[in-house]
Amino acid sequence: MRRNKIALIGGGQIGGVLAQLISVRQLGDVVLFDIVEGLPQGKTLDIVEASRVDGFDAKVSGTNDYKDIQDSDIVIITAGLPRKPGMSRDDLLTVNAKIMKSVAENVKQYAPNAIVIVISNPLVAMVTLFQKVSGFPFNKVLGQAGVLDSSRFATFISWELGVSVKDVNAMVLGGHGDTMVPIVRYANVNGIPVMELLEKKYNDSSKAKEVMAAMVKRTKMAGGEVVELLKTGSAFYSPASSAIAMAESIIYDEKRILPTCAYLNGEFGVNGYYVGVPAVLGSSGVEKVMEFSLDAEEKAALDNSVNAVKGLVADMDRLGF
Ligand code: APR
Repeated sequence: MRRNKIALIGGGQIGGVLAQLISVRQLGDVVLFDIVEGLPQGKTLDIVEASRVDGFDAKVSGTNDYKDIQDSDIVIITAGLPRKPGMSRDDLLTVNAKIMKSVAENVKQYAPNAIVIVISNPLVAMVTLFQKVSGFPFNKVLGQAGVLDSSRFATFISWELGVSVKDVNAMVLGGHGDTMVPIVRYANVNGIPVMELLEKKYNDSSKAKEVMAAMVKRTKMAGGEVVELLKTGSAFYSPASSAIAMAESIIYDEKRILPTCAYLNGEFGVNGYYVGVPAVLGSSGVEKVMEFSLDAEEKAALDNSVNAVKGLVADMDRLGF
């Protein structure tokens, strides 16, 4: 039996952390691909030179040649360019769509049976385009956003309540940014509703609502908060960890229910679009979308997210992708 082979397309900030996490957790052999010569080779050499210390035997290599991703079981994509000053949203979409098109063509050629997790932004556009160009089954092409947004929300709740983050369950659906939908109603600490704990803490339900609203707002802006502090680049540790949680559920057939950018066939009233929803992730990728009823406010928020998704997909059509 051979080890899992995991290809990482994009050897930048997130790609590097992904390569290290996969190695240390021994999830499989790693091939890190980037178009910049030396970058993936240097990063993987650096990682593998700690293999004695970290105690892993996985093969970890860097390449500028797509042939080396041959027969990968899992592909995680972070390739893309960040927005530069003076660049419009359409300019960025055009640049990244061109990159994603070439990535999809090559993954199709060399790793036709892979399950693919897309992280590159704008996420919905990139995951939609990858599936369209590769023609891979919808259950084998998914995107990472919600695991990270949910983890951020859970982190803020744990700080607020002074409890272990391990006991906090908080789910965020929909898209990234303003249109994301934190499901406050079901946020809980080991089953105890967070809102109830906040009301007990402040002995004042309007104050509890205010505190929750601030945490929801911080969750929505969390990506930008990191960008502002870093000055150059965006979050990379937490997106990498989040994609690893998804990959692990697939590799070990854990069937975890994780917020996933998944293709919908009527679930939540949406047909034919990728949207962030709770999904069972197992050995065949997205195995089931877990539908549940939303209240009027959540439904309106998800509809708003779906409209943003439709706008992005329409933009790509208009730009000829
Ligand atoms: N094929 C492969 N890699 C490419 C290509 C291409 N055609 N074009 C660019 N790249 C590489 C760049 O050389 C760079 O190393 O993609 C990498 C992107 O890395 P970073 O710029 O460091 O970005 P990172 O922080 O890793 O984020 C990657 O994930 O969360 C999203 O918004 C983020 O879209 C961004 C992506």
